[in-house]
Amino acid sequence: MKYAHIIGWGKYTPERILTNDEMAAMMDTNDEWIRSRSGIGARHWARKDETLADMATAAAIAAIDHASLSVSEIDMVIVATAIAIFPATACIVQDRLGIPHAGAVDLVVACSGFVYSLAMAGDMIKAGSKNCVLVIGVEKMSSMMNLEDRGTAVLFGDGAGAVIVRGSDQPGGILASVLYADGSGGEDLYLNDKRHLVMNGREVYKFATRAMPAAVKEVMNKVGWRAGQVDVLIPHQANIRIIESSAKVLGIPMEKVFVNIEKYGNTSAASVPLAICEAVEQGRLRSNDKTVLVGFGAGLAWGAIAIIWDVQHPSSKTKQLINRAVFNGSKARTRFRRALRQLGDKLPGRSTLSDKKDKN
Ligand code: UT7
Repeated sequence: MKYAHIIGWGKYTPERILTNDEMAAMMDTNDEWIRSRSGIGARHWARKDETLADMATAAAIAAIDHASLSVSEIDMVIVATAIAIFPATACIVQDRLGIPHAGAVDLVVACSGFVYSLAMAGDMIKAGSKNCVLVIGVEKMSSMMNLEDRGTAVLFGDGAGAVIVRGSDQPGGILASVLYADGSGGEDLYLNDKRHLVMNGREVYKFATRAMPAAVKEVMNKVGWRAGQVDVLIPHQANIRIIESSAKVLGIPMEKVFVNIEKYGNTSAASVPLAICEAVEQGRLRSNDKTVLVGFGAGLAWGAIAIIWDVQHPSSKTKQLINRAVFNGSKARTRFRRALRQLGDKLPGRSTLSDKKDKN
C-alpha cells in the first residue's frame, strides 16, 4: 500500500506590507474596526507586475529546497487559486522550474483550493498514478479589491505557499480527507463583471461557522481521533472570530489552533500553506503531530484533511545547488524547447498543419 507524505514546504509573501492605518488613509475605516471584526493587523500586496506564477514559483523553490529532492522527481504540479486564467499558472511554474515530465493543472476553488488540491494529490499518490506532487496555493487578492467597498477591501492579502507530497511505503502522512460544495451559495462570494470581489459577509460568516467544525469533526471521525487527541488545527485564515467560534464548538483549545491572520489577512488559497510554513518555523508543528487542515470559502466549498506530520528530510546542499542551476536555466530552456518544436515541424516525416490541408 502507498502512503502520501509531505516532505517539503515553502512560502513567499510580497515585499509591500499595508497596515490597517495605511488602509485607513485610503478609505473610511480604522484599525480598531478591522482588528475587532477580523483579527487582521496587516496584509501583503503584490506589485502590479508581480504575477501569480512569480509568487508560486518562489514558494515552490523554497519547498523544493526544503524537501531536498531533484526537480525531475516531481510528476504533477497543482496550483490552487481563485481565478481561472490560461495558460494555467501550473504550466508556467512547470516550465520555469524545468520539471521535465510533469502534468500541470490549476484548481479553482478559492479559499478551499489548497485543501482540495492537497487531498487530490494524496489520492493520486495512493492510487499510484503519480508519485511526487508539487501543490501550491497562490493568490493576488489585491487585484480583485474594490477600494470603494471597505467591507471587503481591508480583509484580503496576497501570497503563496507550497508543499511537496511524495509516495512512500511508510505508513502515515495524509490519512483522510472530506471535500464538499454547495453552489447554491455561490452568490454570497463572487467576482463581478468588473473583476471585483463581492461578498455577503454575514452569510459567509454563518456558512463558515457551520462548515468548518462540521468538516473537522467528519475527518476526525474518519481517522478515529477525538478532539483532545488533535495536536494542531490549521484553519483557513479568514476571520479570527470564525476560527475561535469553530474551535469552541469542536472542543479544541486555541493553544492548539495555529493563527497568523494578524500579519497576512485572508490570502484565500494561500492561507493554509502559509500557516503550515509558519507553524513549522515557530516549532508549533512537530514530528508525529496529529494535524487537521480545514478550508472554506467561495463556491461555496469546504473541506478538511487529517495528517500525521511525520517525515523530516535533512536538506542536501548538493541537490539544492543542482536544482538552482536547473531553475536558472529556465529562460534559455524555454527558448530552446520553442525552437525545437518549430524545427520539429520541418523535420522529414513530421506532418504539419499545411500538409494536412493539402491532403484534404
Ligand atoms: O475566505 C472567504 C471567507 N470569508 C469570510 O469568512 C468572511 C466572513 N464574514 C466576516 O468575517 C464578517 O461578516 C465581516 C468581517 C466581513 C464583517 O463583519 P460584520 O460584523 O458582519 O460587519 P457588517 O458587515 O455587518 O458591518 C457592520 C458595520 C456597518 O456599519 P453600520 O451599517 O452598522 O453603520 C458597516 O458599514 O461596519 C461597517 N463597516 C466598516 N466600518 C469600518 C464595514 N466595513 C467596515 C470597515 N471599517 N472596513
